[in-house]
Amino acid sequence: MNFKKVCILGLGYIGLPTASTFAMHGIKVLGVDTNPRIVEMLGKGEIHIHEPGLRDIVKAALASGNFSVSTKPEEADAFLIAVPTPFQENKFGEYNGQTYKLADMRAVISAAEVIVPYLRKGNLVVLESTSPPRTTVDLIAPILARSGLQAGRDFHLAYSPERVLPGQILRELIENARVIGGLTPESSQAGHDLYKIFVKGEIIKTDATTAEMVKLMENTYRDVNIAIANEFSRLADKFGIDVWEAISLANRHPRVKILSPGPGVGGHCISVDPWFFVETAPELTPLIYHARKVNDAQPHYVVELVKRALGSLKSKKIAALGLAYKPDVDDLRESPANEVVRLLQEEGAQVKAWEPFKPDANLPGIDMASSLEDAIKDADAIVLLVKHTEFVRLDPQAIALKTKARIIIDTINGLNHEAWKNTGFSVYRLGAGK
Ligand SMILES: NC(=O)c1ccc[n+]([C@@H]2O[C@H](COP(=O)([O-])OP(=O)(O)OC[C@H]3O[C@@H](n4cnc5c(N)ncnc54)[C@H](O)[C@@H]3O)[C@@H](O)[C@H]2O)c1
Repeated sequence: MNFKKVCILGLGYIGLPTASTFAMHGIKVLGVDTNPRIVEMLGKGEIHIHEPGLRDIVKAALASGNFSVSTKPEEADAFLIAVPTPFQENKFGEYNGQTYKLADMRAVISAAEVIVPYLRKGNLVVLESTSPPRTTVDLIAPILARSGLQAGRDFHLAYSPERVLPGQILRELIENARVIGGLTPESSQAGHDLYKIFVKGEIIKTDATTAEMVKLMENTYRDVNIAIANEFSRLADKFGIDVWEAISLANRHPRVKILSPGPGVGGHCISVDPWFFVETAPELTPLIYHARKVNDAQPHYVVELVKRALGSLKSKKIAALGLAYKPDVDDLRESPANEVVRLLQEEGAQVKAWEPFKPDANLPGIDMASSLEDAIKDADAIVLLVKHTEFVRLDPQAIALKTKARIIIDTINGLNHEAWKNTGFSVYRLGAGK
């Protein structure tokens, strides 16, 4: 199939890099976002998210004349849906007395609905948003059928999961292997032809529900693995050993790959996607459910560690370093670091949070520091919550001059502990015994 124009709905971490990459490969791209502020910013060549290289490619794509942005779609050869699929804030499912979170599919539904008037025979529609199994078949196809056209017969419909690593999105978008699951083999082939425009990795064709499952299985596997690592960190504390050393030794086994413990699991993918399995089959997913519970409880465990270091937290001043959900990104969604800060405050601590990738973040109830110095200057203790490169490189001697704190709590095994101890800091580590 030949593509001249693509309409991409949702201009966030996935949609915007995808749109500009298509445009730079000679395709006319209309990027659509319901947020007028984002459309206005992009129209001026400014971007609203932090991703290395993205600003340059967006500017180049706009300058090429191939990329334009709008709040409304237009007719196109292909439509890509890359809108958010978080979970619902205030509604939960229940099975056997256990509550679970539910996917909020409103953005996907409304994106599919706005395509309907523009859908033409021979078009391709691809859902990229991470979604519960059977979304493409049971939710998207019936909505698009309101056009009078039938998926698989009159137009192509497929699901293609996104697996890019934030911080490396522009490279991985091109180099990663991509799975494309069509409603029919012809739909898979049409999806293959579309992504072939820029993807250098292998493009593997399958059916839509398998492709949906693949994405959820990848993230669920990581969530369960991290839950084991987090439980190991608690066991290591109990038995007085260093979990980081034990994991690195266990990983010398050629068929073992244990991930790292930490303050919890966050982001909009790994901490969300396993719930899509639990929601659609609670009777089949006790392990996935409990892994989620273990990881969601890990911020409480970190607070216990801080209490071990400081005793009562009442009126204690704490500098929290890092609020992002993982290293070197500005994404604070579902971040366990935020949860740690909130729990410390509930215990009476006065927390100042420093997030170098989003210093002006506006998080309800969280007191943001204006700089590292501002966060630490009056602190009784420093808690390291995210393995940002600049935190790993902190020089304890320079820090000692800027703070009265002589206690540092490392939840991510990010520091040279001997150097900090030699500078006079008491170092407390997650999963490192007594
Ligand atoms: N960010 C990642 O690293 C990543 C990786 C894999 C999969 N995903 C999945 O990709 C999807 C998109 O994620 P993201 O990180 O790009 O989200 P995002 O929040 O960064 O961007 C989504 C954009 O969609 C816009 N939007 C919301 N509803 C819309 C609608 N009806 N029509 C048009 N635009 C609409 C929002 O304004 C926002 O700008 C999600 O399902 C996510 O789980 C993300």
